[in-house]
Amino acid sequence: MRSHILGTGSYVPKQVLTNVDLEQLVDTSDAWIVERTGIRERRRAAPGEACSDLGVQAAQQALSAAHIQAADLDLIIVATCTGDSPLPSTASLIQYRLGAARAAAFDISAACCGFVYALSVADAFVRSGQYRYVLVIGAEVMTSITDWTDRNTCVIFGDGAGAAVVGPTEEDRGLLSIHLHADGRLSDLICVPGGGSSIPASEFMLAERLQFVKMRGNETFKIAVKTMEGAVREAVAAQDLTVADIDFLVPHQANIRILKAVVERLGLSMDQVIINLDRVGNTSAASIPLALDEAVRAGQIQPGSLIVLAAFGAGLTWASGVIRW
Ligand code: UT7
Repeated sequence: MRSHILGTGSYVPKQVLTNVDLEQLVDTSDAWIVERTGIRERRRAAPGEACSDLGVQAAQQALSAAHIQAADLDLIIVATCTGDSPLPSTASLIQYRLGAARAAAFDISAACCGFVYALSVADAFVRSGQYRYVLVIGAEVMTSITDWTDRNTCVIFGDGAGAAVVGPTEEDRGLLSIHLHADGRLSDLICVPGGGSSIPASEFMLAERLQFVKMRGNETFKIAVKTMEGAVREAVAAQDLTVADIDFLVPHQANIRILKAVVERLGLSMDQVIINLDRVGNTSAASIPLALDEAVRAGQIQPGSLIVLAAFGAGLTWASGVIRW
């Protein structure tokens, strides 16, 4: 038995933050941001709009697309680094809001790779027969950990959520394989130093702005290109396929230059890459499910399409997956 994605959904907050808006906050320009990242605008959650609020909206769409009732869910996994609060899990909050009374619930922390990591857990539970329907959500309010005085990071991130209902299939399609990787030696390349047990919330933490995301962007960029290329090659090789068999690449939306470099190395065409970062920026764990849902709803991804997911992010983590849609 295989698992398959039975339905997808997504949600972005209403407020649009353009590059011109950011010109008012930091020493940057629309031209620099577009040229160096490909991002034109991103979404920002309203005050009080939390990760679970975004996740619930995406989840309801995914359940409806999958024709599955919340009451039938066995497990809810939320991939996020910006959950509503440290305790309880955002998955528990969403379980209650959806009325998924039978479902177990937990969060996964794997930054921008979170959705692919969560998908692999869902896949394992479904293939083992322990659970039938697993709801996987990637949801982030990255603007809650954004330092609006740091031009290296504030131009990149945005808020959003994407969701997928994973269930069993007897058909010759579904999640074919997933590969997960991590290298903790590079954990300081992207991090939020404060707010956890090593530097708990304090006046010191606030004064040093340690509650915000820090990123050594240029170093991250170079590693991202190499690891994403490797992850895609590993994914197709595991299925005795080649890069030429790929119909669509659904990558983590970090930077258009990263995607162009990866595509060039692989010998793919940009037409095969699902891209929405120009409109939503880097939404971390929400990035892949948001892009996937948009492509499915637009009819770009069709039954039978061979798609490869490829992610990269803090940890460092990187991951890939092959899906016959
Ligand atoms: O999602 C998790 C994974 N994250 C990523 O994959 C992010 C990967 N990294 C990136 O996307 C890029 O490294 C950035 C977009 C973050 C930065 O672009 P870059 O081309 O690597 O720029 P850089 O950091 O090498 O900086 C080049 C120059 C610097 O100025 P000087 O020192 O040459 O005078 C920066 O201070 O650009 C400056 N700069 C900016 N200028 C205008 C950095 N940010 C900005 C900005 N506006 N927003």
